[in-house]
Amino acid sequence: MELNGRTFIVTGGASGLGAACVAEFARAGANVVICDVSERGAALAGDRVRFALTDVTDEAQVRAAVRMARDEFGALHGLVNCAGVATAERAIGREGPQPLERFAGVVEVNLIGTFNVIRLAAAEMLEREVGAGEDRGVIVCTASVAAYDGQIGQAAYAASKGGVVALVLPLAREFAQHQIRVIGIAPGIFDTPMLAGLPEAARESLGRQTPFPARLGRPQEYAALARHVVENQMLNGEVIRLDGAIRLAPR
Ligand SMILES: NC(=O)c1ccc[n+]([C@@H]2O[C@H](COP(=O)([O-])OP(=O)(O)OC[C@H]3O[C@@H](n4cnc5c(N)ncnc54)[C@H](O)[C@@H]3O)[C@@H](O)[C@H]2O)c1
Repeated sequence: MELNGRTFIVTGGASGLGAACVAEFARAGANVVICDVSERGAALAGDRVRFALTDVTDEAQVRAAVRMARDEFGALHGLVNCAGVATAERAIGREGPQPLERFAGVVEVNLIGTFNVIRLAAAEMLEREVGAGEDRGVIVCTASVAAYDGQIGQAAYAASKGGVVALVLPLAREFAQHQIRVIGIAPGIFDTPMLAGLPEAARESLGRQTPFPARLGRPQEYAALARHVVENQMLNGEVIRLDGAIRLAPR
């Protein structure tokens, strides 16, 4: 699928990897609806870019954003799921077992929110007529290398991202009949506001743990892969690690 003239929803598009996709896709001539809980997304709106204040876990808000894509740009061709939250907390901490609602909260946004947007966006994509063999839609999901090598304190985050990894193949299989592709990207460690809370020394150390290139990933590198995934029709049902060969250590 070409990006030029097509319309995409980018969740988490107000920041980091999502914001890089918004810029890359708009530069390539695509229309974008940013769905984010952060008002910062409003500052990115422009000619081809709209902002919908949206919590990905909220059905009514996601429906409204999908409607916005259709009403403003005529149809919906794709979805990039970047909305996510990261926490670090041991299952048994100094104050006892991790409160269940904190585990559930991460799964709610990262996994259930991702599925919520996929189901509502894909239903809209089905409205579009396409020729045989042509892409009707492309859905990109953001997992994490933590889905495979989660560190101590990442049980909730890793489980939520493992769920995203596991969604990709069954959805690609189900949506094949509709000519909609589903692909996952599992980033290593990227330099985004999600990491901004860490001290500079910790960020540098994380960068050095990446075998090559020995630095943090750049959001533009994620956006370049998301773009390629949209453009390369043979990619489907797979989760691609984008990680400079990093394998996370236990801590
Ligand atoms: N940065 C990394 O190193 C890294 C590595 C692996 C995976 N990821 C994943 O990539 C995705 C993007 O992360 P990022 O690094 O750009 O982080 P980020 O914090 O810069 O951006 C995440 C965005 O998601 C939004 N968001 C959070 N909860 C939301 C909700 N309920 N509804 C709508 N929007 C919501 C935030 O407001 C924010 O704008 C996340 O899913 C993250 O888990 C990031």
